Amino acid sequence: MGDEKSGRSHLLPLLAIGAIASAGGIALGLAIDWFPVAASEQAGPIDTLWDVLLIVSVPIFVLTQTIVLYSVWRFRMKPGEELKDGPPIHGNTRLEVIWTAIPAIILVALCSYAYVVLRDIETAEAREMKVRVVGEQFTWTFFYPGKGGGKEIASNQLYLPRGTQVRFDIQSKDVLHDFWVPAFRMKIDAVPGITTQIRVKPTKTGTFPVVCAELCGLGHSVMRQSSHVVSPAAFDKWLEDKRTQAEGGGQAGGEEGEGGGGAAAPDAKALFASTCASCHVLADANAAGTIGPNLDEVLKGKDAAFIQQSIEDPGAEVAKGFQDGIMPNNYKDTLQPDEIKALTDYLTEVATK
Ligand code: CUA
Repeated sequence: MGDEKSGRSHLLPLLAIGAIASAGGIALGLAIDWFPVAASEQAGPIDTLWDVLLIVSVPIFVLTQTIVLYSVWRFRMKPGEELKDGPPIHGNTRLEVIWTAIPAIILVALCSYAYVVLRDIETAEAREMKVRVVGEQFTWTFFYPGKGGGKEIASNQLYLPRGTQVRFDIQSKDVLHDFWVPAFRMKIDAVPGITTQIRVKPTKTGTFPVVCAELCGLGHSVMRQSSHVVSPAAFDKWLEDKRTQAEGGGQAGGEEGEGGGGAAAPDAKALFASTCASCHVLADANAAGTIGPNLDEVLKGKDAAFIQQSIEDPGAEVAKGFQDGIMPNNYKDTLQPDEIKALTDYLTEVATK
């Protein structure tokens, strides 16, 4: 073997097989719905980058696999050739230059493109909102600036206004976590001792999961919350309500005068659904979470004081068969006193008898 002619004759079938397989691979790659709904300005360029990487890398994978499989089949040993050896070849400078140069050019081009995309999506806008995100085993707490630079407002639900750039300052109280909203495409580690940052501009209203993307302990898989992207007006109202609640909790008193301003009593059932239902069973709320104890069972015969303690300090008495530290112990900070009272009253009513 080894004469030029028969070498060339393999090229055409190889190229044909490679081209067809590449086209099929790219079509399949683009047809697969890889990501959840795109809900931020950052998602567009990132999804395009993904598509470009796919289009470039599929043919390379297919080409190398085609050559390997074709060679194994076409040049396999035939009976009687057991003792034959291949021709003694040493080096081919032209080939080596080509197979070094082409990958180098592709890599430099893709890295440059990725760098441009990264710079582009990280650019700060003149008007941006700040949210401090604190991770701990096993929950996220979101802090919003208080009124006139006052005390920060804590929430266990992430609320964001549509169309405003948000800068997240991410911190951790204990171990490594990773703040990730897949619908925004952006994620970054929460590292104890330092503050990391990402910027996101939500473009779609809706509710999107917030997850922890770094194995951080036994409750890692339940370190999930919700981000609610709402209209700017709805966001302002939400933040205003939170600030009013935080200021005194004494909103019940006084005149109910000005248009719709009077904060209503919290809706305990809705609060239960957004805060507790993913981990607990409670028939009255149609909740079927199995991470924590079944409340229909464990609260039988208990009183309001026990329920309030279990919400505020879940480690005080841990239900049999469950582990301490899985239920977040930040509800005392992220829920307002009237919200804890509403939850306590609700659970006392539906689960203790
Ligand atoms: Cu926090 Cu995984």
